[in-house]
Amino acid sequence: MAHFTRRRLLAGAGCVAAGVVLAARGGRAKSAAPLEPALPIPAGRSVPLRFTAAERPTALPCFGGHSLPMWTFSEGTWPPVVRIALGDRLDVTLENRLPRADEHTSIHWHGIRLPNAEDGVPYLVQPPVEPGGRFDYSFVPPDTGTFWFHTHCNTVEQLGRGLMGILIVEGDTTAPYDADEIVLLRDWRVDRSAGAFLDFTTKRGVHRAGTYGTVRSANGMDRAPLSLPAGGDCRLRVLNCDPTRVMEIAVEGAEAAVIAVDGIAVPPFALDSWLFPPAARVDLVVRAPPPGRTARLVDRRAEEPLVLADLSGVGAPRPARPFEPAPLRAGRIAEPDLGAAETLPFVFASRADPAALQIDDPLAKIALGSLCRASEEFWSINGESWPGRDHSSLPPPIARLSLGRTYRFTLKNGSQIVHPIHIHGHSFKVLGADLQALPVHHADTVLLLPGETVDVAFVADNPGKWMFHCHVIEHQEAGMMSYLEVT
Ligand code: C2O
Ligand code: CU
Repeated sequence: MAHFTRRRLLAGAGCVAAGVVLAARGGRAKSAAPLEPALPIPAGRSVPLRFTAAERPTALPCFGGHSLPMWTFSEGTWPPVVRIALGDRLDVTLENRLPRADEHTSIHWHGIRLPNAEDGVPYLVQPPVEPGGRFDYSFVPPDTGTFWFHTHCNTVEQLGRGLMGILIVEGDTTAPYDADEIVLLRDWRVDRSAGAFLDFTTKRGVHRAGTYGTVRSANGMDRAPLSLPAGGDCRLRVLNCDPTRVMEIAVEGAEAAVIAVDGIAVPPFALDSWLFPPAARVDLVVRAPPPGRTARLVDRRAEEPLVLADLSGVGAPRPARPFEPAPLRAGRIAEPDLGAAETLPFVFASRADPAALQIDDPLAKIALGSLCRASEEFWSINGESWPGRDHSSLPPPIARLSLGRTYRFTLKNGSQIVHPIHIHGHSFKVLGADLQALPVHHADTVLLLPGETVDVAFVADNPGKWMFHCHVIEHQEAGMMSYLEVT
C-alpha cells in the first residue's frame, strides 16, 4: 500500500466555493494503489433460514435491567447475524407473528443488489406479509461486505423495537486480518426508569431531524468492550442501524483506516473522522493497542464526544511494523460511463405547498382517499410527497430509467436538516460534494448536509422498481420517499 498519511482531506476539492466550511470525512493515502479485482462469484451452498417476526421480551444490557417488548426476527441473541460466503444462496422464510392485527411486515435487504422481487418492499414488489402469513426470499448476494436487513413496514415502530439483522458476505479479503468484529450502533426510545419504550415518533421529530433515541448503544450495551489481539490489524464492521441519528465516528488511541464504505471496498485511507448517517456501514482496520491498553471508538457529533466501544489489546503483542492495512478486493459495481450519462436533478426538501400534491394514477387516488388521509406529507422529493406513510398507495415513479444506461444524479438538500438518501438495488459512485471532502467511494446511502449538493453516478443495471428515500425513517414515512423504475 502507498505511504499513509493522516493529512486531512481539506484541500483539492475543486468544486468547493470559497468560504465554504468543509466537513472533513477522512484523510487519504497519498497515491492509493488500485484494488485487486473481484473474484468471479463461485457456486455456493443454499443457506436456509427461518425468521419469525414476533414480540420477544428482551433485556439488552443497555435497557438498564429491564426486559422490553422488542420485536425481533429470531430467538436468541439480538440481532441475528447471518454470515455467508460469496456465492451462497440465502433461502429465507419469513413468518409474521407480530402481536397486533393488521401489523404487516417484510424484510428489505439493505444494500444488496438483488433481483427486484426479493427486495422486500410491500406493494411495490411483494404483498405485505400479514399476521399469520409467510413470504419466501431467495437470492445470491452479488457483493461481499457488511450489510443489514430490516422491516420495510411501519418502520418507525418496527425498527424502533428492533426488527432487523446483520448480513455479512465473506470473501473480500486479500490477507487475513487479526480479528473481525461487528460494532452495531443504534439508539433506543426507552425510559430506563420505567423500563418501557417511549413513543417512537413525535411531531417535532417528523418536522425536524427526527426523534432521537434516549439510550445509545453499541452491540446492545452502553459501551461495547471489544478484546482485540494486541498489536493486530483488526477489522471492525461498524453499522449505524439507528432510525435517526447521524454520527461522526473516530478512533482515539490507535491508528485506524477505512477499507470499505457501505460494503464496497475503497483503497484504504486514514480515518480522521467519518460522518456516518443512519443505514450506513463502514469497515475499519484498527491497529489494536498493546496488551493492557485501550483505544476508543467515539462519536464526535455528540455534544460531548461519546465513547461507543473500548478496544483493548490482549495477548502477546504482534511485532511492531508500519500501519499498512491490507486492502479488500474491489467491488463488482459497474463503472458509470460519465460521457454518456443523463443527468437528473433531485431536490430533497419540505413540501412547500400542501395543495401541490398530484397523483396521476386513479387507483392511487382511491387508496389515498380511503386509507392515507390521516398521514403526514411533510417532506418531499422534487416537490412530490409519497402519499401515506406505508406503501399501499403507489404514486408513479419519480424517474424512469433505461436499463444499462449511466445516470448522474445531483442530490440537493433544499432544507436545513440532514438527509441520508438511500437507493435500493444499486450502489452510487459518489463523485463529489459541496460541503464534505470525500474520497471517491460507493455508497447506497448518501448523506446530504443542510443546503448541500452531492454528485453521484451509477449504471441502472438492475431492472425493477427501486425505492429511493431518506433513511431518517420519520422523514421517509412523512413523504421523502419515491421509487425509480428501471426497464
Ligand atoms: Cu434500509 Cu428502503 O431501506
Ligand atoms: Cu431526511
